[in-house]
Amino acid sequence: MIGTKQVIFSGFLVIFCLYNVGTEAQLQVGFYRFSCPSAERIVKEEVLNAFIQNNGVAAGLVRMHFHDCFVRGCDGSVLIDTVNPSSPAEKDSPPNNPSLRGFEVIDNAKARLEAVCARKVSCADILAFAARDSVEITRGLGYEVPAGRKDGRVSLSSEALANLPPPTSNVNQLTQAFANKGLTQEEMVTLSGSHTIGRSHCASFSNRLYNFNSTTSQDPTLDPNYANQLKAACPQGSTNPNLVVPMDPPSPATSDVSYYRGVLSNRGLFTSDQTLLTNQQTLSQVIQNSQNLFGWHIKFSNAMVKMGKIGVLTGNNTGEIRVNCREINS
Ligand code: HEM
Ligand SMILES: *[C@@H]1O[C@H](CO)[C@@H](O)[C@H](O)[C@H]1NC(C)=O
Ligand SMILES: *[C@@H]1O[C@H](CO)[C@@H](O)[C@H](O)[C@H]1NC(C)=O
Repeated sequence: MIGTKQVIFSGFLVIFCLYNVGTEAQLQVGFYRFSCPSAERIVKEEVLNAFIQNNGVAAGLVRMHFHDCFVRGCDGSVLIDTVNPSSPAEKDSPPNNPSLRGFEVIDNAKARLEAVCARKVSCADILAFAARDSVEITRGLGYEVPAGRKDGRVSLSSEALANLPPPTSNVNQLTQAFANKGLTQEEMVTLSGSHTIGRSHCASFSNRLYNFNSTTSQDPTLDPNYANQLKAACPQGSTNPNLVVPMDPPSPATSDVSYYRGVLSNRGLFTSDQTLLTNQQTLSQVIQNSQNLFGWHIKFSNAMVKMGKIGVLTGNNTGEIRVNCREINS
């Protein structure tokens, strides 16, 4: 027979657990206030140090956070190195290799954080902070990052391929890919504005220059003058992985709205950029964003926070705090 005390005790346990589910399942701004007060400052310093060497890392880190969140949620899975070549990790999938960059910034921040507060700050949170700092440092709007993500223990190249929309996507495919992650079409347009910073490898758009489809070799929706510049930068058939072009040539390291202006003048680099003009709603958002820097900044910050909540692991009973962001704990 179960004693009264036990019943009462298990009742408390149940309530206690429910309470934890309620409080622990959510990310919190200032999560490391007590456990590692210098966490956000240290990440910011490392982003700044890296940015001074190469301002392109800011774009790299924003994209890395996106690619983390869309694959198994924001769990740092994109940071894990391949262990067994027969089952490559996310970072070795075509959407990520060789284009993703900034891993060393995360490593540097992690090394410092392990030195001051070992096993407290997750790699997924470090990446979320670094993405925010990268937006800020490129003159975007800073925002508070809810934190408390745990790191996952699985990273599969196949899942990156299945979840990240390719640059050949049309507006319906993009809308669907974002809807699959709980993001709206408008948030898709807002977040695409991230292509206002950074670069692209030729392979991501050369189909638009040389082998578009069976009737036309060049994408007719691409400004012909721009196409010629792109052809000069990306010779047909070149497989040189070092060839890159800025995605927003007027201001490649500034989070401004010139991306949207470019798209409006048929200078969006990818099909996935240009396609935003082919739908009434997305077209009208592109126009609005192109005319309203502050409005886009606000929407962008909010959308980044929302993206940062996709599929997160929180609480004590799931995930881990990785010691080395490239390896799951043994
Ligand atoms: C809408 C669907 C999207 C597609 C199809 C797409 C595709 C791409 C491609 C193909 C590149 C060039 C990679 C290379 O060849 O080097 C790129 C770069 C980039 N993307 Fe996206 N992207 C999308 C959405 C996003 C989102 C949501 C973000 C962030 C919130 C983002 C941020 C970036 C950044 C910052 C770069 C530059 C990276 C660098 O300079 O290293 N993209 N994207
Ligand atoms: C090729 O692309 C053009 C422009 O987008 C389009 O009008 C045409 O129908 C396409 N042809 C084929 C065979 O897909
Ligand atoms: C979760 O783990 C942390 C660190 O070990 C601990 O301080 C905290 O009390 C735990 N929370 C609960 C509700 O068990």
